[in-house]
Amino acid sequence: MAQSYRGVPRPLIIGGAILAIIIILGVVYLAFFRAPPAPAAPKEITFYTWWAGLEEPAIKALVESYTTKTGIKVIRTAVPGGAGVNAKFAIVALIMAGKPPEAFQVHCGPEMISYFLAAPGKEADFVDLTSIGRETGVIETAVGQVCMLSGKLYTTPVNLHRANLIFMNKEILDKNGIKPPTTLDELISASKALHAKGIPAMVQAGADLFTVLHLWEQILLAVAGPLKFIEFMYGTLDPGDPSIKKATEIFLELAVTFPPDWPALDWTGAVDRVVRGLGAFHVDGDWAVGLIYTAHPGVEMCPIDAITPTCKIIVAPFPGTGDVYNMVIDAVGVPKGPAQNLGIDFAKYFTSREGQKVFNPLKGSIAVYPDIPPDIYPTVIQKWEVEQYRKSKYQVFSLTHGALFSEVWQKLLTGAVILAQYKATALDSWYSTVRESLILERKLWEQTGYYLGSPEKPFAGYRPPWAK
Ligand code: GAL
Repeated sequence: MAQSYRGVPRPLIIGGAILAIIIILGVVYLAFFRAPPAPAAPKEITFYTWWAGLEEPAIKALVESYTTKTGIKVIRTAVPGGAGVNAKFAIVALIMAGKPPEAFQVHCGPEMISYFLAAPGKEADFVDLTSIGRETGVIETAVGQVCMLSGKLYTTPVNLHRANLIFMNKEILDKNGIKPPTTLDELISASKALHAKGIPAMVQAGADLFTVLHLWEQILLAVAGPLKFIEFMYGTLDPGDPSIKKATEIFLELAVTFPPDWPALDWTGAVDRVVRGLGAFHVDGDWAVGLIYTAHPGVEMCPIDAITPTCKIIVAPFPGTGDVYNMVIDAVGVPKGPAQNLGIDFAKYFTSREGQKVFNPLKGSIAVYPDIPPDIYPTVIQKWEVEQYRKSKYQVFSLTHGALFSEVWQKLLTGAVILAQYKATALDSWYSTVRESLILERKLWEQTGYYLGSPEKPFAGYRPPWAK
């Protein structure tokens, strides 16, 4: 039998000693000889956006606050062009090539389904952000609810913009004895009167295309009303519906009053003209409020129901759409990929209360959380919008900003510019563009089977025929 020391068998003592030596050597090796671990690569992601140039301050502030908080760098790849007229092509090209950015700007609405259709693996190539929506609480908000596609959140909202606004130069109206128009008839006669005096009335912009379709869309909303407007979005509206013809006729009456160089202006240039008194009206979303606030400080804006003597720019619902909030919801999409967790983290911050409080004051929009107090906004217009949204009877999605499949949007975008350019001679082609657009829009919804909202709460209570 092996000898023992105080009752402990010898082999056990030897074994224990060897183990102790191995552990000590291991610790010494780890402490002194092992190469230090390579410093972790700095964490960074790319965010694709069209907020650039004069429209940059809000996203810049948001990204800076995110980086300060997390140490994660966000490279903003900005492809300028309002409404994403250029950025959408860059994003889709990357998605088709299977090399998407970690996160990208997108509108809530079927616009996101167009990215699904372009991706090699379809919707499976994108992160389902529903759980982020739950964690942040954004999915509980009315905006979060309507951002869902058949009950899933793929685009997490960061704000709420309003599309149906008209910006008016008060001095021009006062000098010409014109009351701020509140009906389409008043708008048409004011525009014609100014035009007859050689004053550009309706300053829309052709260079980045979108404000032209944007104007047609607001007229359609006023003429057709919100329910038919929603049918347009789903492509279920009869292309022969009289509202389309009526809206187009009014559009042509107003297009005559555009400034002669409108094709060369972009939306920021159009806003600048109205601010400087070189034109009376501009129809746009409240990103123009953000632009005026950041690029034209000192220019006082006021809502139509509280006009002050020092007010320079009157902001009003587009005539005939007072009880509607035409929603433009900016959001973040996150493609799947090796750094998707960083993309998700960024989207989560952006959509959170904290992120929205940084972003929205400078953006001209309002946050989607109803408990965020209006006093965070620097302009009276945003505070007024909080109230307007709360009081609105109907909410619709803007056709020019997210509510159309990208292919359809593209057709209408260029079609509207051609119509404004060639007027009556382009009418037939415009009507066939609208007809084809409605047919294609419906086909794409049907083919993909999606609808806005969730099975429990479809958007606006409207369940399109293909929704199960
Ligand atoms: C919209 C977008 C807004 C603003 C605007 C002008 O499509 O939702 O946030 O950027 O275009 O670029």
